[in-house]
Amino acid sequence: MEQGYSGREWNKITLQDELTGHIHTEWAGQPVCVYETIDSTNVACAALAQEGAAHGTLVAANEQTAGRGRRGRSWESPGGNQLYFSLLLRPDLAPEKAPMLTLVMALAVAEAVRETTGLPAEIKWPNDLVVQGKKVCGILTEMRLDNTRKHGIDSVIVGVGVNVGARDFAAELADKATSLEQECGTAQDRGVLLGAILQAFERLYAAFVAAGDLSALQEQYNAYLVNLGRDVTVLDPQGTYNGIAEGITTTGELLVRLPDASTRTVFAGEVSVRGIYGYV
Ligand code: BTN
Repeated sequence: MEQGYSGREWNKITLQDELTGHIHTEWAGQPVCVYETIDSTNVACAALAQEGAAHGTLVAANEQTAGRGRRGRSWESPGGNQLYFSLLLRPDLAPEKAPMLTLVMALAVAEAVRETTGLPAEIKWPNDLVVQGKKVCGILTEMRLDNTRKHGIDSVIVGVGVNVGARDFAAELADKATSLEQECGTAQDRGVLLGAILQAFERLYAAFVAAGDLSALQEQYNAYLVNLGRDVTVLDPQGTYNGIAEGITTTGELLVRLPDASTRTVFAGEVSVRGIYGYV
């Protein structure tokens, strides 16, 4: 209870209030740990994992003071109507299969955004979500190994940041990033969105685990792939080259057809892919 405006009492609506009642899954998001402000939900989730937290534990925050992006970048995480969360997984998988979980999450977020907003969300391989060619979501997956376990994985943390209600982006991001609210023209409910993401993830994860790879999800992923059939530039440390994206393999690599008609398999860890004219 807080006081303001001539001493009247008021209750602040917290992220906890907004999420309550929206999570209807069996394990994903069971339990949920909600913070108003934290350094990074991935860091908090990793600490919980080390303390023995269960598969499915979720950490969400209204604001992050040290949000982490891919390739050592930071992830701007102001408070307000944004979504920042990290899901703890303890899969019985070989470590080399863990990067596929990022693609499973990208597909879950794409499905959930389409379902809850009606926007034609697409995936920029491997794991950015775009709407009308601009980024609305980034995913950072971090793994911890444990050599005493059967397959060597202690935990995988899949961290997701969705621009739900952001209105202003830094000048260098303005032509590359957007938010669901900007694209819809109306405010979006982050509790509803999180509930839909977790429900989709639970179903897609089961299909992934049953197959042991992305074969059951490949067709749907390729249907949402913004790069499909487009010219792409592959920024490979060994040398940049252009080609046409032909979709993902059953293990999540991108197939790129080169001008001489040969095909290259692009591994996500090593390179980034850009459209030849810009971000997608
Ligand atoms: C990217 O660079 O595209 C990935 C961004 C991932 C950001 C999310 S926000 C929630 C979670 N906690 C973090 O510190 N990072 C991820």
